[in-house]
Amino acid sequence: MPDAKLQSVLSSLSQQASELNALPSTWPVPDARCVKLDRNENPFALPPPVMQSAVAALERQYLYPQDDNISLREAAAKAYGLCRDQVIAGNGSSELLGLIYKAFLSPGDAVAMVSPGFSFNRKLATLQGAQFLEVPLSEAYPLPTKQLLFGPAKDAKFILVANPNNPTGTFVPVADIEGLVAQSNRLIVLDEAYVDFAPDNALRLVDRYSNLLVLRTFSKSYAAAGIRVGFGFGHPEIIGRLRNLQNVFNMNVIGHAVGISILSHRVAYEENHRHIKSERQRVSVALSQLGFSVTTSHANFLLAQVPSGKDGTWWQVSLKRRKILVAAFPEDGLENCIRVSIGTRPQMDAFLAAVSDISDYDLQT
Ligand SMILES: Cc1ncc(COP(=O)(O)O)c(C=O)c1O
Repeated sequence: MPDAKLQSVLSSLSQQASELNALPSTWPVPDARCVKLDRNENPFALPPPVMQSAVAALERQYLYPQDDNISLREAAAKAYGLCRDQVIAGNGSSELLGLIYKAFLSPGDAVAMVSPGFSFNRKLATLQGAQFLEVPLSEAYPLPTKQLLFGPAKDAKFILVANPNNPTGTFVPVADIEGLVAQSNRLIVLDEAYVDFAPDNALRLVDRYSNLLVLRTFSKSYAAAGIRVGFGFGHPEIIGRLRNLQNVFNMNVIGHAVGISILSHRVAYEENHRHIKSERQRVSVALSQLGFSVTTSHANFLLAQVPSGKDGTWWQVSLKRRKILVAAFPEDGLENCIRVSIGTRPQMDAFLAAVSDISDYDLQT
């Protein structure tokens, strides 16, 4: 029987909200025995002093966290050579992306992203009723500057570039990013979620260009995805407006404590980053020997084109049967690819053993 009350309530949804279906209640619970290589997490423990700061923060559980994340922003400013007003902190960089969409887009506006890119951006654009323009990168043009500046994206309110890019792992020289920022009067949002695995970063440009906003996260290179710590660095006028849109007490006391502690223990992660880069190389070579074509990556994951005959989703399902989770991107023009995060050596051995097993058995039948 149709529920008249429910229909009446649903009819009051904004146009943007009604374009997104209700999430299914049958969302599968992840199997704890699986090797999780699908979200670009960093599966190592926090360094002991960082862990201690998290435990100590729990003793302040009865207090609201500091408003406007002042100490965390100050610590980040000091660590990265900026001033506090150039820093915004959030529950991961995804919260900050959401604020940027809210601040800069009205229904009917457009936003442009280098594509394939981080697909969450598509949803954020839908929520604002905005048009999402995807400007394809190519091997020859990993940063399609001309198209971003003069093509259909020329009227986009802001331009999103991730460097290194997700899901490709490709990295463009900072000089190319600077060229785009210098030639544009629009906001360039440079998402550096994976930059600690790359040879360079663009933070030094923040003082030079008021139209550049750099995003960072502690989810990938600092093994804190579950704690939710992210930063935005930019001109104080833009940062101040974004802070003004934030929820009160947006972060929690553990996020503050862990964020501040990570900032003063960044050297403790050097071995972690060395491991990920060397494991990335080892897995890339091994996958190539198994018939995959692997894109050179500067992030903590590899995008690999699967051997001909089956597509990426088939490999994803076959690996899942062997309790290995990887990502596939059938909606992003990457039907023949899988993306695998780089984890511990035993995790990567398990992944390679499963790929080899699939090649030996499933592909033969
Ligand atoms: C390019 C990119 N940006 C941002 C994020 C969001 O990261 P977080 O919200 O955990 O900081 C991700 C997560 O996968 C990502 O790949």
